[in-house]
Amino acid sequence: MTILPELDEAVRVIRQQIPMLPGVGVVLGSGLGGWADELSDVVKVPYATIPGMPRPAVEGHAGFLCAGRVGDVPVACLQGRAHLYEGHPLARVVFGVRVLARLGCRAVLLTNAAGGINHGFAAGDLMLIVDHLNLMGTNPLVGPNDDALGKRFPDMTYAHDPRLLALARAAARDAGVALREGVYAGLLGPTYETPAEIRMLRTLGADAVGMSTVPEIIALRHMGVPAAAVSCVTNLAAGLTQRELDHKEVEETARQARARFTALLSAWVRRAGAELAAGSAAS
Ligand code: HPA
Repeated sequence: MTILPELDEAVRVIRQQIPMLPGVGVVLGSGLGGWADELSDVVKVPYATIPGMPRPAVEGHAGFLCAGRVGDVPVACLQGRAHLYEGHPLARVVFGVRVLARLGCRAVLLTNAAGGINHGFAAGDLMLIVDHLNLMGTNPLVGPNDDALGKRFPDMTYAHDPRLLALARAAARDAGVALREGVYAGLLGPTYETPAEIRMLRTLGADAVGMSTVPEIIALRHMGVPAAAVSCVTNLAAGLTQRELDHKEVEETARQARARFTALLSAWVRRAGAELAAGSAAS
């Protein structure tokens, strides 16, 4: 059993509406959706019209696949993602990034909102995810392997593509934006963590915690598509302050960090696009 025909049907529908072949894929997390509306020549394909695509239900997540350009780099972008905690099967949660891969993206840049665990972090910081802990209790590759997509036991040593990490650091310099680095723990949610869970996660080596991204990274690694991710630390994790956590605060901090986050993302897309163009010119 392969999901390939379903992916290719989604790709067929999208291709009818978008004029270009995207080289870089982007996934926009909480509060970042507006980035897609600023692409040049943007075409927005509603998820509802794409067969197989799940509808994200959380506030702050639109449901469009947007195609356009950053400078001269053609981009396909998921404006809104589905989360496991919404009740979607994992195969649906990662459907969107698999579609990006089948559309031809040869690099995928993911973004998310996360709680900061590292004592050196402040709300509003941006963190390059250099590695992750999959603590979701499941994995998008559970079940018979889809040999058409990738192999049974994918290596995860370089799940966060070293070249894309280097480009993110360079992009942060281009954009004049401070970029921290750390390990992201992916949890199921939808509850925020308890203070004891945050202490546990720190002991395990996590610098930030969130409820997305890990399944997408795994699915892209399986398909052999280089991927990497940046978190916006929208709040200090539970127990690090006296205050209770609230999604409104997450959205508000994401909004305040938006100018820096979008500047970094645009610079990263330019770098990735230039590298892809140089690579295909050389081959
Ligand atoms: N925990 C989990 N996910 C999150 C958080 C958090 O504190 N902030 C934003 N997403």
